Amino acid sequence: MAESRIKLYYKNVTAEIIGAENGITDVQLRGLAEQSSAVIQKLNEERKGGQTPYRDLPYNEQIPQQVKDLAGELRHGCENLVVLGIGGSALGNIALQTALNPYMYNLDDGQRTGPRLFVFDNIDPAQLASFLDWVGDKLDKTVFNVISKSGRTAETASQFMIVRQLLLDKLGPEGCKNQIIATTDPEKGTLRKIATDGGLRCLEVPQGVGGRFSVLSAVGLFSAAICGVDIDALLAGARDMDGRVSCEDFYKNPAAINAVINYHYYNRGKKISVMIPYSYALKDLADWYRQLWAESLGKAEDLAGNEVHIGPTPVKALGATDQHSQVQLYREGPNDKLFTFLQVNNFERDLKTGAAPDCAPELAFLAGTNLSRLLNNEKKATEYALLQSRRPCLTVIFDEVNAYTVGQFIYLFEVTTSFVGALLGINTYNQPAVELGKEATFALMGKDGYEELAQQIQPITEVDADYLV
Ligand code: PA5
Repeated sequence: MAESRIKLYYKNVTAEIIGAENGITDVQLRGLAEQSSAVIQKLNEERKGGQTPYRDLPYNEQIPQQVKDLAGELRHGCENLVVLGIGGSALGNIALQTALNPYMYNLDDGQRTGPRLFVFDNIDPAQLASFLDWVGDKLDKTVFNVISKSGRTAETASQFMIVRQLLLDKLGPEGCKNQIIATTDPEKGTLRKIATDGGLRCLEVPQGVGGRFSVLSAVGLFSAAICGVDIDALLAGARDMDGRVSCEDFYKNPAAINAVINYHYYNRGKKISVMIPYSYALKDLADWYRQLWAESLGKAEDLAGNEVHIGPTPVKALGATDQHSQVQLYREGPNDKLFTFLQVNNFERDLKTGAAPDCAPELAFLAGTNLSRLLNNEKKATEYALLQSRRPCLTVIFDEVNAYTVGQFIYLFEVTTSFVGALLGINTYNQPAVELGKEATFALMGKDGYEELAQQIQPITEVDADYLV
C-alpha cells in the first residue's frame, strides 16, 4: 500500500517561490530542522512514556474488534444510527462519513452499506425536532450512540434525555435499553454511571485520550465500521504515518516539516491557517482539523505559567466553492495567512462534460473534459494567484481518498498538532477555556454547586435596555 501514501508538498512556502521577505530560506529551514530534532525526540519519548496514548490507538487490537463485534451484532436490525455528541465526540464521525462514504449514502439504499448515519452535534431544538418527527415510527430500527468522554456535557446529556424519554415512552424500558449505546470513560463520569445502572451496551473512550484526539478509538470507529468503512485500512494508514512522523530525520518527517513551517509563519505574522480541500469528501476533515488545532493550540499560558495568549487561528474553506467567496480577501487582504491545500489526484468517480452548445463556442475549452481535471486546475490556478500575492501555500497530496490515506491524514495532523504545541511551549492536551463555558452553562441552568458562578455571570447576561437600538 506504500503507493497510496499522502505527501506534503512545501516548495511553495520557500523564498525561491515567494521571495525572501515572505518565504522560508534554506538557511532558515536548516535552523528550524536543528531546533526540531529535540522536539522529535521529546515527542518520541513522551510517547514511549505513555504520556500521549492517542499515539498508540492504531496499534490497539481490542478496540476495533469490540467495535466490529458490536457493529456485526446490530447491523441486521439497524436502519438508522444516530450519534449524539459534540466537539471531539462528533467531528471525527462526521469527517469519516463524508470522506469515505458516497455523498448520497443516506438517501440512496443502493449506495448504502450500513444504516443511515445522523450526527447531532448541536442542540438546536428545531433541527432535532424535525429529525425526531421523521424517526418517530422507526425507533425500533434506530440505534442511538451517545458519546461523551466526561459524561457531563450539557448538550449531549440533554439530547440523551430527550431520546431516552422518547424511547421509554414508545418502546418501554427494555426497548429503550436495546436502542442505546454509550461511548464513554471506562470507569468514571455520569454517562458511565447511567450506562452501568441501566445495563446499556458500552464502548470506551480510552483513558488519557482527549476528545479531539479520539477519532481512531471507538468514538470514531464504531459509526464508521457499522456504515461500511474499512476501519482496518484506516488504522493501517495511521500506523504507516506513525513510522514517518516518528522518524528522526527532519527532512523525511512530514509532521516535523508541517509543524515548523506553521510555527515559522505564526511567528512572522501569519496568525491564520487556512485549510482548503479541493474535494468534497475531505471537507469535513478540515472541520475536524479546525477543532484539533484551535482547542489544542489556543492557550493563555505557556508551560512555565507565563501569560502568552498564543495560537494560530484555523479556518476551513472549500475549493472551488470558496474561490467565489474568500479568495478576494485571501489575495488582496492582509498577508496574515498560511494556506494548506488538500489535493486529490484520482477521484473515485469522474464525469465528462458534453459538447459546447453551437451558440456558445466560447465554452469549447470545457467540452469533453473531466470534472476532476477542471477542479485540480482550479486548485493550481488559485495557488498560482496566491503565490503571485506572495502568500505561502502548502499542499497535502492524496493519490486517492480511501480509508488508508484518510488514516494517514488524521495521524499526520494529530502529530503535527503535538509538534506545534511543543514548539509553542504550551499544554496541547487541555482545554480550560472550554471547561469554563461548560461550567457557566451549568450555572445558568441552575445546577447545584454553581450558585456563586451564577451570581458572577448575572450582570453580564442581563440585557441593559439603554444599550439596545
Ligand atoms: O476535544 C475535546 O476534549 C472536546 O472538544 C470534547 O470532545 C467536547 O467538549 C465534548 O466533551 P465530552 O466528550 O466530554 O462530552
